[in-house]
Amino acid sequence: MDAVQFAEHGDREVIEYGEFPDPEIESDEVLVDVKAGALNHLDIWTRKGLPGIDLEMPHVPGSDCAGVVSEIGEDVTRFEEGDRVALLAGVGDERMDDPTLDLRFHIIGEHVRGVHSEYAAIPEANLVSVPEHVEWETAAAAPLVFQTAWRMLIERGELQAGEDVLVLGASGGVGHAAVQVAAHAGATVYATASSDEKLEYAEGIGADETINYAEAEFGSEIKSLTDGRGVDMVVDHIGEATWDESLKSLAKGGRIVTCGATTGPNPDAGLNRMFWNQLSVIGSTMATPEQAETALSLVWDGTFEPKIRETLPMSEAARAHEIIEEREGFGKVVVVPDSEL
Ligand SMILES: NC(=O)c1ccc[n+]([C@@H]2O[C@H](COP(=O)([O-])OP(=O)(O)OC[C@H]3O[C@@H](n4cnc5c(N)ncnc54)[C@H](OP(=O)(O)O)[C@@H]3O)[C@@H](O)[C@H]2O)c1
Repeated sequence: MDAVQFAEHGDREVIEYGEFPDPEIESDEVLVDVKAGALNHLDIWTRKGLPGIDLEMPHVPGSDCAGVVSEIGEDVTRFEEGDRVALLAGVGDERMDDPTLDLRFHIIGEHVRGVHSEYAAIPEANLVSVPEHVEWETAAAAPLVFQTAWRMLIERGELQAGEDVLVLGASGGVGHAAVQVAAHAGATVYATASSDEKLEYAEGIGADETINYAEAEFGSEIKSLTDGRGVDMVVDHIGEATWDESLKSLAKGGRIVTCGATTGPNPDAGLNRMFWNQLSVIGSTMATPEQAETALSLVWDGTFEPKIRETLPMSEAARAHEIIEEREGFGKVVVVPDSEL
């Protein structure tokens, strides 16, 4: 089969698309004929190399895909040949109430071989059914970011209707999912992005107020938009570049929920602001299968919609990485096996 792959970590030049050994399934796995995959910022980190993760090379990246079951292992009970499925990339102990808290929790594509290939061998526990009416692009683009946003805002952040929420980076995968989840929960949604065009998109998916953070400090803007009070929750996946302004944006007793640190993991902690304003810092990663299925049921019924920046053949995976790294466009980048085009 053909697969996106790299034999060493590095810049986009290390990405290739070509022959890779056909995957063989274990007894609890399903062979998926991949119809579409989607990129996450994670694919950039994985390509560059993450501390403490020693990947088997060549590595196939990719933590999102959807496709058709073409073979099942002898212990597989939930799926049969021909079923439409999508990947839930988090792997934890299924017997735990919350497998994301398993010490051995890891992510397909980040810690082990990913799914940007014509075929992928995937544990049954990591697949969800995709209804007939859902496009492959949608099924591939939604799972990772909508499960992440759902857990951040609803499960970990316990967002309530009527609260004020600030979503940073509303143009990115997680950000644009978080805007939709927050609006669905009945919150008033404030969103930031780096251009007016991206902010127009954010309004189109549920943002009530938008701030171009390239033109103004969003902390001061939030204070003036909320009559000096601040918001109840900030959704921050940016890290060092935004942490200080995020803390400034919070109302007394507010909470900041973080799932990522695109610009770096070590901002000034701002302890004085944290204790004086009695703020809570909440970390969140991926979601349990039940939480993911709840979020995805709202994608399948059209309540949530992953926006597609661009769909490219897998042979143009390097360009797909470039779109993410250069912060072009709004939403998700989809890649499709060349043989499917
Ligand atoms: N823990 C988890 O389970 C989990 C799950 C998913 C993602 N993540 C993490 O969350 C982060 C976002 O992932 P993603 O896939 O959504 O990424 P993405 O699609 O590439 O989006 C990145 C966003 O960050 C914004 N951004 C980048 N640099 C910025 C800066 N200096 N100041 C303000 N905004 C900036 C961009 O905004 P503009 O377009 O306005 O420039 C863009 O909206 C990544 O760090 C990822 O690793 C974690």
